[in-house]
Amino acid sequence: EDIQEVVSDQEVQQLMQNLPKVTIMSNKLELVNYQGFWHPNIKNYLKSTLMFQRHFRARNTDIIIASFPKTGTTWLKSLLFSVVNRFRYPKDQTPLLKHHPHELVYRLEVDVYGNAFEYPRPQHLDELPSPRLLHTHLPYTSLPESIMASGCRVLYIGRNPLDTLVSLYYFSIKMMKKMEGQDFHLRMEDFFEDFYAGRMPHGPFFEHVVGYWKQSLERPDKVLFFEYEDLKEDPKLYVKRLAEFVGVPFSLKEDSEGVIEDIIEMCSINNLRELDVNKSGVINKYFEKNSYFRKGEVGDWTHHLTPLMVERMNNLMHEKLEGTGLSF
Ligand code: A3P
Repeated sequence: EDIQEVVSDQEVQQLMQNLPKVTIMSNKLELVNYQGFWHPNIKNYLKSTLMFQRHFRARNTDIIIASFPKTGTTWLKSLLFSVVNRFRYPKDQTPLLKHHPHELVYRLEVDVYGNAFEYPRPQHLDELPSPRLLHTHLPYTSLPESIMASGCRVLYIGRNPLDTLVSLYYFSIKMMKKMEGQDFHLRMEDFFEDFYAGRMPHGPFFEHVVGYWKQSLERPDKVLFFEYEDLKEDPKLYVKRLAEFVGVPFSLKEDSEGVIEDIIEMCSINNLRELDVNKSGVINKYFEKNSYFRKGEVGDWTHHLTPLMVERMNNLMHEKLEGTGLSF
């Protein structure tokens, strides 16, 4: 299948004309609503999303991380990479020492189909060794069919909406500064209203989370749902669970030798942040590598939001999560 023929520019233009649009980030970032979710209207985002949807063929061995932005994607990427590749590299030679986690687990709709990186391009997907470790911010309902139809596994990470919001606020300021090439002012009040109304890249937040949550209940062999807060509280338990789910459980010997603790230490925010490779440089033009490592705490929202914001978001959370069995 010729990748260039899968989606034409003309088709994208026509589709784009009919999609709802809003602008956020002090009117500097346009979002388009595609299949019920907001997507940033930058570069060829819609085109590469369509290409991903139509061209991607999952392998049974694929492992795909799915997430809403700022919920712990970078952390989960580094843990998954370490768990799966632990027999390939001695621990002092892990590629994490030389590469940002986002360079080791590619985001499909951007890194691969957006051609933002030199490598991989969609054509290279076939050359990647199994198991391929991949990532997407797309909601469950927009995933290419073959992901759910194949035996490949999906790891989702969710996080408390207030912490996600605060994390996204600080990340967005840096991103917009880079895009605009100058200092960027963003009022928390405005940002909060947009997040609350679901107007965020890949939002609405709750619909994103609940979509994957329900799948994890219906098809537990296929979708594993993590919460950032659980991983913080008991990393060993959840890293073990991750390893079992992806088919490479830790042996008793590994456990007693401290292999799990070593991985957790390697992937800790304090360790990753201090690596030279993560201190400078950008990913996909606008994203400073160090902006992925801010605080890494649970409950930082208490310092950044007003009591009214907290109350409103918590009310919305109760409404959206009611009856799902999910809580943050
Ligand atoms: P904060 O801004 O609250 O610190 P994502 O990787 O999905 O973009 O999410 C980024 C958030 O995860 C940021 O949250 C970041 O600091 C935190 N994070 C990054 N690496 C982490 C790690 N190794 N352990 C825990 N949290 C981490």
